[in-house]
Amino acid sequence: MRTIKLGKSLFDVPVIAVGCMRINKIDKKQAEAFVQFALDIGANFFDNADCYGDGECERIMADALHMNPSLRERIIVQTKCGITPVSFDFSKKHIIEAAEASLKRLNTDYIDVLLLHRPDMLVEPEDVAEAFDILHYQGKVKYFGVSNQHPMLISLLQKHVHFPIVANQMQFSIMHPFMASQVQHVNMLDDLAVDRDGGVLDFCRMNDITIQAWSPFQHGFFGGVFLDNEKFPKLNEKINEIADKYGVTNTTIAVAWILRHPAKMQVVTGTMNIDRLKDCVKAAEVRLTREEWYEIYLAAGNILP
Ligand SMILES: NC(=O)c1ccc[n+]([C@@H]2O[C@H](COP(=O)([O-])OP(=O)(O)OC[C@H]3O[C@@H](n4cnc5c(N)ncnc54)[C@H](OP(=O)(O)O)[C@@H]3O)[C@@H](O)[C@H]2O)c1
Repeated sequence: MRTIKLGKSLFDVPVIAVGCMRINKIDKKQAEAFVQFALDIGANFFDNADCYGDGECERIMADALHMNPSLRERIIVQTKCGITPVSFDFSKKHIIEAAEASLKRLNTDYIDVLLLHRPDMLVEPEDVAEAFDILHYQGKVKYFGVSNQHPMLISLLQKHVHFPIVANQMQFSIMHPFMASQVQHVNMLDDLAVDRDGGVLDFCRMNDITIQAWSPFQHGFFGGVFLDNEKFPKLNEKINEIADKYGVTNTTIAVAWILRHPAKMQVVTGTMNIDRLKDCVKAAEVRLTREEWYEIYLAAGNILP
């Protein structure tokens, strides 16, 4: 599969990352077949989090992969910490304990990439830096990143953390294009001119932080899949027209739309369906034209000045 460099890390990673947030919704046999198929088609980057299924998703993923030292060298395991049952916790103690608990569930000695999942308002960056130092020098975590974080918070962390922040995982899709469309509304009076993300997309591009696009098929915040959804007839008509032209499925086009953005994003898919994963991976071979990209953007109800 086509790869990109993950931030300032030494990793070349597939443009499609296999998100495992929903792996607890399928049975053991299906999970095994799914992850083994992912490996067969070169999708060897797995995204997880300690809070997915309350830890179950990490455990199921590791079992399904038959985690062992020789396999471990061939896959990239990313997980996240910092969300607790009641709030958010980026304290040194929590980060270290969470990473160690993930290691146990993942049945491995090291995490390739550990992300801070969602901002903790009480974050003390010096504390985060110490936690990262300990985890890295003990060989437990190779690289660090963040998720859902504003450029100012990333800068604050980076002032103290001794390793490059390699990724920022953010919601991004045809129905949630705001990181990209923000630039179209600068200095205008419409609602979309409200700066909601501090220019995070360009900030990440300037600082070599890979944006990982989560929920590539959802509208709203887990509002459901927009493909083949009768609430969005114009969008589906346009996507299907372009899918026919390329001889691919609408799933492929929805992913290709994200990959067409020049920020070199990595798409974190959530499907647990083998055929759909194949369609997602196929998107790495489709390059939409500029016109097609904008046509899809507009068909989704997004606006241009
Ligand atoms: N950092 C964060 O805050 C954050 C937040 C949310 C998610 N994530 C990560 O991002 C990953 C993806 O998130 P997500 O699961 O919400 O994303 P998604 O890929 O947009 O949604 C996947 C869901 O949509 C369903 N689906 C139905 N029709 C589909 C179609 N035509 N194409 C594709 N999927 C279809 C899938 O079902 P089937 O399984 O039947 O295909 C699956 O249940 C997660 O696994 C997780 O790793 C991160």
